[in-house]
Amino acid sequence: MPPDHHGTLARSCHTGSVGSVPMARTKTAKTVYRCGECGAEVAKWAGRCGACEAWNSLVEEVEQALAPSAPGGTPAVAGTPMPIAEVDTEAWSPLASRVGELDRVMQGGLVPGSVTLLGGEPGIGKSTLLLQALAGLAADGRRCLYVTAEESAQQVRLRAERLGTLSANLWLVADTALPHVVEHLGAVQPDVVAVDSIQAVYDPVLSSAPGSVAQVRQCAHHLVRASKERAMATVLVGHVTKDGGLAGPRVLEHLVDTVLSFEGERHHALRLLRATKHRFGSTDELGLFEMGGAGLQGVPDASALFLADRRPGIAGSVVAPVLDGHRPLLVEVQALVTDTRLPTPRRSAQGLDSGRLALVLAVLEKRVGASFHNADVHTVVAGGVKVVEPGADLALALALVSAGSGHPLRPDLVACGEVGLGGELRQVHQTSRRLAEAARLGFRRAVVPASAPATAAGIEVRRAATLAEAVELASAP
Ligand code: TYD
Ligand code: MG
Repeated sequence: MPPDHHGTLARSCHTGSVGSVPMARTKTAKTVYRCGECGAEVAKWAGRCGACEAWNSLVEEVEQALAPSAPGGTPAVAGTPMPIAEVDTEAWSPLASRVGELDRVMQGGLVPGSVTLLGGEPGIGKSTLLLQALAGLAADGRRCLYVTAEESAQQVRLRAERLGTLSANLWLVADTALPHVVEHLGAVQPDVVAVDSIQAVYDPVLSSAPGSVAQVRQCAHHLVRASKERAMATVLVGHVTKDGGLAGPRVLEHLVDTVLSFEGERHHALRLLRATKHRFGSTDELGLFEMGGAGLQGVPDASALFLADRRPGIAGSVVAPVLDGHRPLLVEVQALVTDTRLPTPRRSAQGLDSGRLALVLAVLEKRVGASFHNADVHTVVAGGVKVVEPGADLALALALVSAGSGHPLRPDLVACGEVGLGGELRQVHQTSRRLAEAARLGFRRAVVPASAPATAAGIEVRRAATLAEAVELASAP
């Protein structure tokens, strides 16, 4: 049986709830199966598409008229053409949520009529973030509806009470059937609605199980339409799978206006919020939160947080100013090099890309003459952040050399630059912003590539063309 199709059981026990509901579809709704590869339509599910022969590509969908039809079968006209400058944008200005870091990522807040998908692993804090955001909107007089499809209304109320976010404008309902959700929208007439989660909501017209591709797409489609029709801001929560994709695949990302991803290490309090798609602004802002007893608190000064536990005078520790979107962050890169008898020495990279670690080790051996043959190498970015950009290469290389030699580098040193295979250093973008952040936090010397542009005040800049030069500069007094 395909993952998407769970027989008729779901249908027979759900259809009872549709009868009284005033939805746009009626007896004419018919389900068909469509191939995700070639678009062919068939009446019965099969493991392989008869047209293009792709395996497992047929997904159930409802065949129905999407808009009220005029007698000729043409949909009713939805808009009037007008000069672009006369299009009214007033009603579409964002609604701030009072959760500063969320508003920063959304560049103002939730836009009426827009749909935002909030993705993240289970337990990362999506429901908490939503509850806090809705409470902020409610406190500003917006009518908010929280549809909880996973937890009971009691559970959500208790959490809201604990977070101190009870508000008369915040409405709550526990429901999972899409027709009911649409009905609740009519009853409450909210300015903002949150559905937690889209994978738990189902449409009884489809026989697929909740959370399947067909269900998720169908429910999201309806909610997107309702959102546009009512000019209400909608937030859909979506759980992500282990490999980072939004379960109920990427089809959702095309449907919505904004895709937010909420990340973090389960065992660290730090949470990162990013927009991976945003139709109302850039996707460059990073929001930082700390999960604590009182819910999520914004972290305005993340660099200070990451460096708070740093111990000066330890070999193998170098601070790198990295950029996440527009936000400069100072992170501590740590390395530990120990003798080993293992035939294949260990190489571990936490918070760093293991490919970049391998590259930096190879360049150090070949171009700088450092040797790690008989050593286990452990590297970490402290604080639970993940650094993916090559700007941290130089700091990593210096940390490895320092760890290997046992000589600590001066504690007020930062390093940023990309290491090339020839042992050359390449500049990374926005060096000045990175160094300004380092200077703000009290760092006094920076090692950067020779080509890096003129830089910030308050920090002495040393330039190196090659990694070997940088190693010498960094250990100079
Ligand atoms: P939750 O918002 O339920 O996560 P999601 O909706 O993404 O699955 O939050 C999950 C975790 O957050 C939970 O394990 C407990 C923790 N938490 C706190 O530490 N403090 C708090 O104030 C709250 C509400 C939750
Ligand atoms: Mg949740």
